[in-house]
Amino acid sequence: MTLGSAITTRSADTRVPILPELAERWSPRSFDPQATISEDQLDALLEAARWAPSASNNQPRRFIVARRGTSAFDTIVSALVGFNAAWAHNASALIVGIAETSSVEGDVRPYAEYDLGQAVAHLSVQAEAEGLVTHQMAGVEWDRIVAAFDLPDNMKPMTITAVGTADEADKLPEALAERETAPRRRLPLEELVLVRS
Ligand SMILES: Cc1cc2nc3c(=O)[nH]c(=O)nc-3n(C[C@H](O)[C@H](O)[C@H](O)COP(=O)(O)O)c2cc1C
Repeated sequence: MTLGSAITTRSADTRVPILPELAERWSPRSFDPQATISEDQLDALLEAARWAPSASNNQPRRFIVARRGTSAFDTIVSALVGFNAAWAHNASALIVGIAETSSVEGDVRPYAEYDLGQAVAHLSVQAEAEGLVTHQMAGVEWDRIVAAFDLPDNMKPMTITAVGTADEADKLPEALAERETAPRRRLPLEELVLVRS
């Protein structure tokens, strides 16, 4: 919903109330290009990710964290596909989520990608609680990230999360502004839950 030129809110339409941070979280593309993220906020997001559960507590998730205005940030933007680079350059920070698919000893981590996703989910909910917004992206030329940050074979970058402060939808190019205010859709619970007894 937009009210005049106000920041868009797109609360989830839920059958019963859920935590406000979950109901209010969504993935905007309009980021305030002046807004910054504090060290404490960044710490809170990363702590939320750190304390997510993982298989055997192996914690096979790693992050590259870059604030806007740094060369690492520019490197990450240059690896985004054009559709994402068009808006993500305004984020306060970009966080590359990396799955450690095997340990240094060579032990395979079969749940690394699952564990990374769970950590990023925690991070995104913490961001909402901090008054920040997040938008995850997989539209990335990953070989560029691997080369730029010299990632070894067992470090598989999976997503880049834009973090920042939401801005008005009408600051986006028209096609993106339309998406910014379109209804959010989800499959019905009946389709998600195969068995409920
Ligand atoms: C793994 C993953 C990859 C995604 N890749 C992109 C992307 O490359 N570009 C983009 O604009 N959004 C991307 N998204 C955002 C999704 O489109 C968005 O989360 C989904 O449409 C649901 O919208 P919501 O987060 O506002 O509820 C991605 C999300 C996830 C979890």
